[in-house]
Amino acid sequence: MDGSLRPAFDVQRIRQDFPILSTTVRGKPLVFLDSGASAQKPRQVIEAMVRMMETSYANVHRGAYHLSEASTAAYEAAREAVARFINAADSREVVFSYSSTAAINLVAHSYGRGVLRPGQAVVVSQMEHHANFVPWQMLREAHGIELRVARITDAGELDLADLEAKLADGKVGLVTVTHMSNVLGTVTPAARIAALAHAHGAKVLFDGSQAAVHRRVDVQALDADFYVFTGHKLYGPTGIGVLWARRELLERMPPFLGGGDMIAEVTEDGFLPAPVPAKFEAGTPPIVEAIGLHAAINYVTAIGMDAVEAHERSLVDHAMTRLSAVDGLTVLGRAQDRGGVFSFALDGAHAHDLSTLLDRVGIAVRAGRHCAEPLHARIGHDSTCRASFGLYTTHEEVDFLADALTSARKFFS
Ligand code: ALA
Repeated sequence: MDGSLRPAFDVQRIRQDFPILSTTVRGKPLVFLDSGASAQKPRQVIEAMVRMMETSYANVHRGAYHLSEASTAAYEAAREAVARFINAADSREVVFSYSSTAAINLVAHSYGRGVLRPGQAVVVSQMEHHANFVPWQMLREAHGIELRVARITDAGELDLADLEAKLADGKVGLVTVTHMSNVLGTVTPAARIAALAHAHGAKVLFDGSQAAVHRRVDVQALDADFYVFTGHKLYGPTGIGVLWARRELLERMPPFLGGGDMIAEVTEDGFLPAPVPAKFEAGTPPIVEAIGLHAAINYVTAIGMDAVEAHERSLVDHAMTRLSAVDGLTVLGRAQDRGGVFSFALDGAHAHDLSTLLDRVGIAVRAGRHCAEPLHARIGHDSTCRASFGLYTTHEEVDFLADALTSARKFFS
């Protein structure tokens, strides 16, 4: 949509699309600050999924009857929508998976075992979610890959000099890093990372689980080789994730899961895989979820990812100002480029106790290590609380959090 035709960003109007945001918790209005774990769903997504099940549901790619054809067309239209959303050159580069985790595991199994050779190295960073850490540790055990961990700076940014040093010997086959930290909010300089990786002969994967929600992603402009993200953080349903990869890479990669739909031919002696992307979509795929993801993409695209990013930048600035002023509160990460994710620790309060106290006034935050234990070890905190924003988050909610933390500080001291 032409930006000039788009209505101005109106967070109150947007909030009306999300039924759950008008509910209460213990009699208090819900202040939902855990969108980084999973975002709430607008009516447009909920209704698209219900409508699909009520009017045009059948299995895809299997039946030569009207409903199956309608379902297949809707499923493939979702793939086209994903391709446009991330500016993929070809929708056949879009593989539907079950989650970001499943998509990264697909790459680790297929590209990792099928293309990388024992003795080659994979580089992750210290601020990876476990989903982009453990599969590579598993690959190290199973396939003799060396795993290198690029450092982060004290500000919580990727140390590009350390990354370059880890690439220097030319043994690295893949650099796989987050595009936005789910703990620190750090947005990594993806295009520079891709250029560094390529200069040393490595491919690059970005875990866009957080980033794809907060800003426009263009896989071609980033010069990425693999990019993954998930539906449920993008205001879509759970149970669907996306692996985008350059077509020539997908062609070289062996199938990961075997089963129906991923074959061109099967005999008692063997099988021929189907062309991409079907080669990587064994079994009945997440059909209704794909329709939900399509609706979510339509939803955020109609608002405009640039408008979403501008709103979140304003929230980030406001949160930095308000949270920095709370006595006894340590906000983790000072990256220059960051998104709406704030992890913090309050003197004298365990993260779980703090989140329980916040819940009493209706504020939902995540507490723990946020599936990033190596990062917590690096920053020297056993656990933290995390507030993460969505496009429906308001400045007033940030104020409410800051005020609640000020009260909590008094309570715990
Ligand atoms: N990956 C999700 C999070 O960071 C669950 O909370």
